[in-house]
Amino acid sequence: MGIDSSRAAFKRTQGSLAAGVSSGLRRAMQPVPLFVERAVGAHVWDLDGDRYIDYVMAWGPLVHGHSDVHIIDAVQRVVSSMQVVGMGHRLEYEAAEAVLDAVPGAERLVWANTGTEAVQVALRLARAATSRRRIVKMTKAYHGWHDSVYASVDAGDTGETAVPASRGQSPNAYADLVISQFNDIDSICRLLEDAEEREIAAVLVDPIMSNAGVLEPRDGFLATLRELCDRHGVILIFDEVITGFRIARGGAAERFGVTPDLSVFGKAIAGGFTQSAVVGKAEIVDLVTDGVMHAGTFNGNPVALAAVKASMELCAAPHMYSRLDDLGAAFEKEIGAVLTEAGTGSSLRRVGSLLQFVPGDDQATSLHGTGGLWSGISAAMLEAGVVFTPSGKIFLSTAHSPADIRQTADRLADALRVISVPST
Ligand SMILES: Cc1ncc(COP(=O)(O)O)c(C=O)c1O
Repeated sequence: MGIDSSRAAFKRTQGSLAAGVSSGLRRAMQPVPLFVERAVGAHVWDLDGDRYIDYVMAWGPLVHGHSDVHIIDAVQRVVSSMQVVGMGHRLEYEAAEAVLDAVPGAERLVWANTGTEAVQVALRLARAATSRRRIVKMTKAYHGWHDSVYASVDAGDTGETAVPASRGQSPNAYADLVISQFNDIDSICRLLEDAEEREIAAVLVDPIMSNAGVLEPRDGFLATLRELCDRHGVILIFDEVITGFRIARGGAAERFGVTPDLSVFGKAIAGGFTQSAVVGKAEIVDLVTDGVMHAGTFNGNPVALAAVKASMELCAAPHMYSRLDDLGAAFEKEIGAVLTEAGTGSSLRRVGSLLQFVPGDDQATSLHGTGGLWSGISAAMLEAGVVFTPSGKIFLSTAHSPADIRQTADRLADALRVISVPST
C-alpha cells in the first residue's frame, strides 16, 4: 500500500488544473488528495490498484455506495437512447413524482444541477413570495459557494453582519444576509419580531449543521422556527443537500417532524449523478410560472433523472434507513472506543449515517479541514488504506459492512500507536 502514484498525479495535475483539484475543499486531504481509478461499493482503488475503505463517499451523494447496480443499470438503459435533449421526457415527471412521494409536505419541484444552484433558486422564490429581500443564515453554515451565501462560514462571532469567506466576493451579493445562531431560538425570535420592517424573506437552515459539527437541533428548535416563520410571514427553507435521503427517506423534515416551505436537495438525490432540486409548497414553487426565472441547459437531464428515479426506489426499500442507522451506531461504538482507549480526548457525533470527528476542543471542526489530531489521523489512515474527508465528516452507505468498520477500528488503533496524541 502506497500513495506515491497519487503524489505523482497531484504534482502533474497542478501543471494544468489550477490548485490540482476540481473543488477547493479537496485540496485539504492529507497527506495528498487520493487519485482514484475504480470505485465499487464501499471501496476505491488508486492508480496503483491499491484498495481503500472509503468514508468520503464523494462528500455525501453515495448513500447506496459506488457503482450501485440498480442505479448503473437505469443510467445505462437511458444513456444509449438519449443524453440531454432540452425537451420534455418521461423521466422528468417520473423522478419528480418519486421525490415528492418521499418528502413530507412536498407538492411541487424544480430541477437544477448542483446544491449551490438550487439554494439560489430557493432564495429567489422566497424573495418573490414575500416581496422582501433579506435572508437569515446561521453562522458557520455552508450553503454552497455562491457569493450571496458563502459568508460567515469560518468566522467567529460577528453579530448579524455577514463576513465574506472568499476573496473576490462582491459585498453587494451578501449584503442581504443576516447572521444568526443555530439552536439559539431567543436570538432568532428577536430577529424575526421585526421581520416585516427588516424585510426578512426567509430563514435558510441546514437542520443539523452538516458542515459545522453535525449538530442535532435542540428539542423544539425547528418546530419553534416553523411557528416563528408562520407568525411573521417568513419562508422557512431547509437546506437538505446533505441530510436529504441520508438521515431519513424524507430527510430532516421526516426525522424531526417539521415541514419547511421549501427544501433544497442535491448530493444523494441522484446516488452519484449530478442533479439537485427545490421542493416545496406548490404556491411558492409555482412562482416560476409567475415571473420567477428558473432555467438551465442541463436541468432535468435524462441520465441524471434515471439515477434519481432508481435512487428513490432504493430509498423506499424496507429497512434501508434502519440498516444505515445500525452501521452508523456500529461505527460510533467501535471507532469511538478506539479514540477513547488511545486517550485522544476526541469523540464522534452522529446523526444516522453521518458522523463527525469532534476534537477535544468542540469548536475546532471546520468545513475547510479540521486540523490538529484529525489531520494526523486522516493522513495515517490514508497510508493504511482508509479514506476520510479533511473536515472529519464521515459518510456511511448501505455498501459498508460491519467488517469494513472492524478493519477501520483495527487500523485506527495501529495508527494511534504511532501518531502523537496531544495531552488533554
Ligand atoms: C448543506 C450544503 N448545502 C449546499 C451545498 C452545495 O452543494 P453543491 O456542492 O452541490 O453545489 C453543500 C455542499 O457540500 C452542502 O453541504
